[in-house]
Amino acid sequence: MSHIRGRFHKDADKLVQQYTASVPFDQRLYQQDIAGSIAHAKMLAKQGIITDKDAELIVMGLVAIRGEIEQGQFQFKEELEDIHMNIEARLAERIGDVAGKLHTARSRNDQVATDLRLYCKEAIAQTIEGLRGVQAVLLDIAEANKAVVIPGYTHLQRAQPVLLAHHLLAYFEMLERDVQRFQDCLKRTDVLPLGSGALAGVPYPIDRAFVAKQLGFSQVSQNSLDAVSDRDFVIEYEAAASLAMMHLSRLGEELVLWSSAEFGFVEMDDAYATGSSIMPQKKNPDVAELGRGKAGRVYGHLMGMLATMKGLPLSYNRDLQEDKEGLFDTVDTLLSTLAVFAGMVKTLKVKAERAGQAASLNYILATDVADYLVKKGLPFRRAHEVVAKLVSYAVDKGKELHEMDLGEYRQFSPLFEANVLDINVSSSLRARSIVGGTAPQQVDAQLARARGLLKGGGGGY
Ligand code: ARG
Repeated sequence: MSHIRGRFHKDADKLVQQYTASVPFDQRLYQQDIAGSIAHAKMLAKQGIITDKDAELIVMGLVAIRGEIEQGQFQFKEELEDIHMNIEARLAERIGDVAGKLHTARSRNDQVATDLRLYCKEAIAQTIEGLRGVQAVLLDIAEANKAVVIPGYTHLQRAQPVLLAHHLLAYFEMLERDVQRFQDCLKRTDVLPLGSGALAGVPYPIDRAFVAKQLGFSQVSQNSLDAVSDRDFVIEYEAAASLAMMHLSRLGEELVLWSSAEFGFVEMDDAYATGSSIMPQKKNPDVAELGRGKAGRVYGHLMGMLATMKGLPLSYNRDLQEDKEGLFDTVDTLLSTLAVFAGMVKTLKVKAERAGQAASLNYILATDVADYLVKKGLPFRRAHEVVAKLVSYAVDKGKELHEMDLGEYRQFSPLFEANVLDINVSSSLRARSIVGGTAPQQVDAQLARARGLLKGGGGGY
């Protein structure tokens, strides 16, 4: 473009043009760019830096350009490098020389930082909404299956019975932390860089607070060098997204396991599974697998951006243009994963009987038997030893604990009395009635708390 190539004697090499252009991907920022320009133009007029009439022309031109883009009539040109120059060039075509006044007291450096922050603020709002959506369906199926028991695992070995609702609420908690992380990252994103100029501020009597208000920013940046080169907010979004994807990936992994014949605790709805092109019997949990897989690319974007930033001297460097594709892909990946996971969880069929069966086998109540002996006065370590021997005996006999009689129990300790035979899955659950435990009463309280959080009531502890 003539005015940015002013001091050069030839056009950029074609390959260089392609290499440096960001418009193929930053055209996605057109709304933010136009909103930023409109606010800037209004401020320039209010401050008497340009006339009201010029500002009006500029604003009307920008609104018309937004319409052109939205109707697919706008021709993005790679030789104009980025979204900012594309819009400015089109404005000049529409309103003539006055268009050149828009860039008074502004640089593309503070302009792009402003656009990207506006974009991130919207992305954060959508992300929180998506997280809330998955939390809501987790809560719905937890409530609808309140009595369902599953084996709880450690080391992927059956450990102790837990309520399915308790297990699902674990994911609710993870996503709650994610919501908090995005809310927190919003505070540092919600800062207006415009007014920083190229790097040192601008020599015009601008009103930054006015622009901030117009654009909905709650603060203005306090150091121009930092403001044009800071991309912490991108990294923070990507870091929070990485954690959220990690949580969704773990949920995906469990649903892959649970929908296998080996577990059989749930069945995926047909709409969330695919068939095999060779094995007619297969029903594959591809949505859960892809969610698990896509966590990797989001981590990649986080690592990529951290690496891009680490050696940059102040202030703006063109390297910063590398912030966008990774960020956009992170937002797209997280939002789509949240949307499909909400549908997948909502339509899960819980196989209560199969899960309940699994939760009563494999000596899963051994800890409860040890706790029984503790209540009779035996130190826990001793009780553990006694029950370990009892289990070993039962394994040899090919019996479960509840299939043994009192005589057999008493071979291992005289403390066993008839009521040891009353230990069962529900007594095991009921016994764990502490805050955060799996007792039905506690899980009920957690369900209510979770409901409160979703209703914006805070929940409380
Ligand atoms: N496309 C550029 C970016 O994304 C816009 C800012 C360009 N600034 C510059 N001084 N070349 O970072």
